[in-house]
Amino acid sequence: MSTQVAVVIGGASGLGTAIARALHAEGHTVTVADANLAGAEAVAAACGGTPVAADVTDEAAIESLFTEVLARSGSVDIVVNTAGTSGFSAIADHDVAEWRSVVDVNLVGAMIVIKHAARVMGRGGSILSLTSLNARQPGAGLSAYCAAKAGLSMLTAVAALELGPRGIRVNAIAPGLVITPLTEGIQMVPGVQEDYVENTPLGRAGTPEEIADAAVYLSSERAAWITGEVLDINGGAHLMRYPNIGKHLDAMMNGATP
Ligand SMILES: NC(=O)c1ccc[n+]([C@@H]2O[C@H](COP(=O)([O-])OP(=O)(O)OC[C@H]3O[C@@H](n4cnc5c(N)ncnc54)[C@H](O)[C@@H]3O)[C@@H](O)[C@H]2O)c1
Repeated sequence: MSTQVAVVIGGASGLGTAIARALHAEGHTVTVADANLAGAEAVAAACGGTPVAADVTDEAAIESLFTEVLARSGSVDIVVNTAGTSGFSAIADHDVAEWRSVVDVNLVGAMIVIKHAARVMGRGGSILSLTSLNARQPGAGLSAYCAAKAGLSMLTAVAALELGPRGIRVNAIAPGLVITPLTEGIQMVPGVQEDYVENTPLGRAGTPEEIADAAVYLSSERAAWITGEVLDINGGAHLMRYPNIGKHLDAMMNGATP
């Protein structure tokens, strides 16, 4: 196993933290970047990595992140972008600025990361993004998130086409429900997690480590012939239906059973 230079963006929390730890455990040098610098510092300290403050919506910050890693480490071999955010509102009531900000982080941010990663990567290497079950399964109230993640799946395919001739592989992981700070809101609404689990053939939510295992594999030479792939990791939830979160929210507000 050769030591490679890895950059995990969104590494301060949840899936990004699990992936940063797993890449470190594989012997790679890890830079932990996040809009939340204090969080990135804590994770980097735990895995002997370097913390960097970087917001994926800020092109200059992402360009300087990659330039700095290249200058410090001599190459950029593995890029994992887990930065993501969500919101909840019906389209008819949706504030457009909020809608735009979800698309900005999840889709435009991913494009900015791929663009500047591609510029500093030589020949070979891996770029991995985190899309979602919601890229293929619609959730009422999640229009911005679903649209952004569906766009990210196609962005992954286009980037794989463009970067293939340089040997750079571009893939994505599409998780189902994994308990992290991002999904804390969902867990506070009675019935949603149960509904999700009932609609999951394997009958449970996932763990950050299960996503990290796949991220390590897809980023490694063992996946040398895999590109343009969006890997569903969701206990089979894509075979069934997405919970109606709005119904559970209404029931919570009105004290009724959905
Ligand atoms: N947890 C799940 O169930 C789940 C399911 C499907 C997809 N995903 C996707 O996986 C990714 C990671 O999710 P998570 O559950 O770990 O979330 P999380 O909220 O625990 O972590 C997200 C991290 O991204 C960072 N971040 C947010 N906006 C940023 C920005 N503009 N620039 C840089 N960093 C930013 C946050 O500071 C945070 O550290 C997201 O893209 C999410 O959409 C998560």
